[in-house]
Amino acid sequence: MAGSSFLETLYNTGPGRAVARRAGLTDPPKLRRGHTMPSGPVALATLSNSGVGAETLALLGIDTVAALVDVAENRTKDERGRDVPPTYSPRPGALVVDATGLREIGQLELLRQVLRPAMKGLERSGRVIILAADASTVDGLEAKAVAQGIDGINRTIGKELRGGSTSNLVYLSDGASAEDLSSSLAFLLEGRSAFVDGQAWRVSCRKDGDDGTATADRDKPFTGRVVVVTGAARGIGAAIARTFGRDGATVVAIDVPQAGENLSAVANELGGSALQLDITAPDAGNRIATHVAAVHGADRKIWAIVHNAGITRDKMLANLDEKLWGSVLEVNLAAEIRINAVLLDENLPGGLDHCARIVGIASTSGVAGNKGQTNYAASKAGVMGLVWAMADELVDRPVTANAVAPGFIETDMTAAIPFVSREIFRRTNSLQQGGQPVDVAEAITHLCDPASGGVNGQVIRVCGQNLVGA
Ligand code: NAI
Repeated sequence: MAGSSFLETLYNTGPGRAVARRAGLTDPPKLRRGHTMPSGPVALATLSNSGVGAETLALLGIDTVAALVDVAENRTKDERGRDVPPTYSPRPGALVVDATGLREIGQLELLRQVLRPAMKGLERSGRVIILAADASTVDGLEAKAVAQGIDGINRTIGKELRGGSTSNLVYLSDGASAEDLSSSLAFLLEGRSAFVDGQAWRVSCRKDGDDGTATADRDKPFTGRVVVVTGAARGIGAAIARTFGRDGATVVAIDVPQAGENLSAVANELGGSALQLDITAPDAGNRIATHVAAVHGADRKIWAIVHNAGITRDKMLANLDEKLWGSVLEVNLAAEIRINAVLLDENLPGGLDHCARIVGIASTSGVAGNKGQTNYAASKAGVMGLVWAMADELVDRPVTANAVAPGFIETDMTAAIPFVSREIFRRTNSLQQGGQPVDVAEAITHLCDPASGGVNGQVIRVCGQNLVGA
């Protein structure tokens, strides 16, 4: 029963609610999703003279209120004389903290001061977004340690915030501009980032020749662009295809012939095209390019490819044979490498655009390992290694390669997990619930946004800050 947990069902009955509360199980918060902004104001705290946060919010056309709080003035006592933590007024929907200028341990106190009033003072599904300098672009041991220290703060407050609110951190490399930061900041403020929590990623300067600047219509950045999604007949892949369709893309939906009926339904719904293809076929890359050129026009190129198709063949390593081992690595990793190699040929009709976006799907199993999944963890950790290596290798071409690592997402794949384990996986994250396929899709459209050229070689977990490997 994808989308509704045992706990939600329990909560829908009076006695069940009482039992669940007594067992310490709270009702999971309902998350704000989609192209929605917080309803309360966006508060901005600039802790240095950098101004990149203010510039980016202005570029996005978002009005802000100042968030600096004088702690001493705001501290009040309750009736027993205990300190009551300060809160912001009016209650913000989001707090953006520009900490890009912090270089000394003592300056972290400024972060404490501005974050503290937000801990109990944000609206539901609120956002804390911290901007900091990337450690590789600051000088001195203390400054580098401080950059990493800020991530410790980010990950901790992600765990302390309540009501579906999240905290995330964007590291800015030297010279990264408001334009480079704009797509990540918009993503984080909007409901699109609902299930992304406690994450940190780096935004750098876009590479020379990246002409993918922000489109006037921020809700439809893919208008006129062809996007290929593998494994699109169901689950997360179908959600990825639909989300790209919503945001204006012409979608090429790929899946195995056995899933042909569902695949056609998804493609037809979106006005895209379906390609029945086993991605492990040796000529898969060429078949994709031939399809794009034949169906969508000889001069069309692929703006983005999302390598979503994946399988699990779980067994403890003691029982894992060569076939189960090989099939998972073939589908989840080797096919992706072969297809990219073919499509990256700039002379190939129907191949990848000069400044295309490539996205792989990793998994928290690849981050932390998971009992019974050596083959799967190898393939998914391999996807992370692949995008890191591609980002290094493709320095001369404005292509980006990134990955998302989903945690527990409500799909047919996770519905097959035994009940008790499923309920535990679902609940052991900061948002106390499983993610929806659309949550993974939204993170992917963010990475593929024409304005996301500065996000390269990053792995973003979409896991509600799952405790696994956190
Ligand atoms: P799913 O099993 O519901 O869908 C996978 C799709 O890929 C199916 O339509 C299948 O036919 C297709 N596919 C499999 N082998 C193929 C091949 N050789 N050629 C073409 N298509 C093929 O899986 P789900 O849950 O939607 O997962 C999608 C991706 O997300 C996978 O890569 C999975 O490993 C990953 N993931 C999923 C998580 C979850 O909680 N559901 C967690 C972490 C990662």
